[in-house]
Amino acid sequence: MQNNHLLGVYGSRDLTIARGQGSYIWDTEGHRYLDCVSGVAVNALGHSASVVVDAIRAQTEQFIHASNLYVLPSQKALAEKLAELSGFDAVFFSNSGAEANEGAFKFARHYFVAAGNPERCEVVSFTNSFHGRTYAAMAATGQDKIRLGFGPLPPGFVTVPVNDAAGLRKAIGPKTAAVIYECVLAEGGVIDLSPEIAEVLREVQAQGVLLIADEIQTGLWRTGTFLASEGLGLKPDLVTLAKPLGGGLPLGAVLVSAKIAAALKAGDHGSTFGGNPVSCAAGLAVLKVLSDPAFIKDMNERSAFLRKELQALIETKAAAGINIGPMSGKGFLIGIQWGGDVIALQKKLRDEGVLAHRAGASVLRLLPPLNISREEIKELLGAMERALA
Ligand SMILES: Cc1ncc(COP(=O)(O)O)c(C=O)c1O
Repeated sequence: MQNNHLLGVYGSRDLTIARGQGSYIWDTEGHRYLDCVSGVAVNALGHSASVVVDAIRAQTEQFIHASNLYVLPSQKALAEKLAELSGFDAVFFSNSGAEANEGAFKFARHYFVAAGNPERCEVVSFTNSFHGRTYAAMAATGQDKIRLGFGPLPPGFVTVPVNDAAGLRKAIGPKTAAVIYECVLAEGGVIDLSPEIAEVLREVQAQGVLLIADEIQTGLWRTGTFLASEGLGLKPDLVTLAKPLGGGLPLGAVLVSAKIAAALKAGDHGSTFGGNPVSCAAGLAVLKVLSDPAFIKDMNERSAFLRKELQALIETKAAAGINIGPMSGKGFLIGIQWGGDVIALQKKLRDEGVLAHRAGASVLRLLPPLNISREEIKELLGAMERALA
């Protein structure tokens, strides 16, 4: 089905965006909204942050595209910044999250081919996970609603129930190359990966299985630390990033450890647009702000305040007989279980001047910009209070 010549895969859209500034977005009718969707966890510094606009302008005035045949200074600088922040050895830049995961699967399999163990080719993932819409990423995505109707899917992907330690242990065998995990399964319902599963992941990593952290939604401080894996005590072998990485422009990345990097040589992978200089310049500007320790401290205080107030609101409403809670996620990746119609709740919030997202069928998802102010947080809480009244 199509809608105004756009393929109907996104359903109907009834809000036309005119402009955005900071934490706010305006529609073409002049209504202003506090944007707690942030382009689905992309706009870490809100809309049109001046540092991002300036970086984009400066790079476009120099050159926009030249290809990966040449050294691209903004790409080189972003790779260095990511290596410095993560301790990883090498970065491959893609255009999107799904494409970053495709790269990670290729690198993991190739590592075992180069090591003389080509039979180790299976990738294990969790139910409720979301890893993207391309074929391998879709095969790894543990949700039938994403996978059904597009078969045959590529072989070599195994899904186990999320937070089931015994199930995970059972799925690991001589054919396993890697386990891909999200520390918070964001699209699949803002489900927190349990510390017990983190323990099993460390155990299987010690047996030689590679860990791929899909930090596309959880990474780059959305959950309070550079990578959410840090919070679970996990040191993955490969990390995929995207969403805020390009400052609102398309950009993804795979961070790889030295042993994976050593298995890859010229010609093994590539992309025409991956690591585009403008996206990299924008991303570097965002990372410079986000990686400032004073910013991180303040951000974590603001997210803790929001979570504390939301928790109090949930408890009050639940005590009054409303089917709400618990709250899940970490930092500014917030899920609130909702017993009613979550789309109706989103509409109520929109009427109160707040854009909120959902995850799965019954979770309201809040993804404010990481620089949302205390005043704006109070505005969000007021809107939540009124929407739940
Ligand atoms: C955890 C995770 N992985 C992968 C993806 C896919 O990223 P993209 O839409 O950029 O392909 C998403 C997107 O929502 C995601 O949240």
